[in-house]
Amino acid sequence: MIGHLRNSEIGMSIPITERLKAATRALHTEVERAGVMRLLLRGQLERAEYCRLLRNLHAIYVALEAGLSQHAGVASLAALNCEPLFRSTALRDDLNFLHGADWAVAIPLTEAATQYVEHVQGVSEHAPLMLGAHVYVRYLGDLSGGQMLARIVAKSLDLPAGEGVKFYEFGSVDDVKTLAHALRRGLDLMADTEASAQGLIDEACAAFARHRELFEALGRLTEATTLPARR
Ligand code: HEM
Repeated sequence: MIGHLRNSEIGMSIPITERLKAATRALHTEVERAGVMRLLLRGQLERAEYCRLLRNLHAIYVALEAGLSQHAGVASLAALNCEPLFRSTALRDDLNFLHGADWAVAIPLTEAATQYVEHVQGVSEHAPLMLGAHVYVRYLGDLSGGQMLARIVAKSLDLPAGEGVKFYEFGSVDDVKTLAHALRRGLDLMADTEASAQGLIDEACAAFARHRELFEALGRLTEATTLPARR
């Protein structure tokens, strides 16, 4: 009988990863369909446009991974500070391959990505535990749907086997499962009070909204060169 429990106590009996999934389900559908992601999913992104997406994501991962490394000594963030998850080196390698070594100066950041980076830096400085929400949104996404995106990207950009898709590589299928499991467990242990759980949920929802803005902004840039067939 749970009649005597407060809502917060009922909430705390559900793992934060389940609550995050439920709370962000509709936002996930939105980002999948937003701007540049819609084209990516349909295999309609051109190489230069895909590089623009990677370049913008690279800046976000650099900020996130700098924050996680900086707070590696914080016990509840330790499980999330996991090198095999980190994506900034893989993104750099993909950009070197797909664009060339000058990508960082040649491909501009969108305002949405710049703001996202500043936001993550602020979170790292003032509320480092909330980096967990960004870990959930980025890395669990990469370990989940990202695996399907790798195949779409390789096919639509006609890439040689294994080239230009390091972003999606986490090792074997078992490695992917192990990393996702460890990440979920780390997150579940982090949310030890209702306030921290709710904070992570709010931050994850905000992170999804920032992704939607970024993908829409990148989508608008592609529209300038969009052929009617891609509409
Ligand atoms: C078009 C692109 C995308 C596709 C096709 C896709 C697909 C998927 C799929 C199939 C799952 C597994 C769902 C499940 O286990 O029930 C998943 C999970 C996830 N995706 Fe995506 N996704 C896409 C884009 C994104 C983006 C852009 C983000 C982040 C901004 C994201 C974040 C997540 C997260 C956090 C999860 C884990 C959900 C959970 O189990 O808690 N996805 N995605």
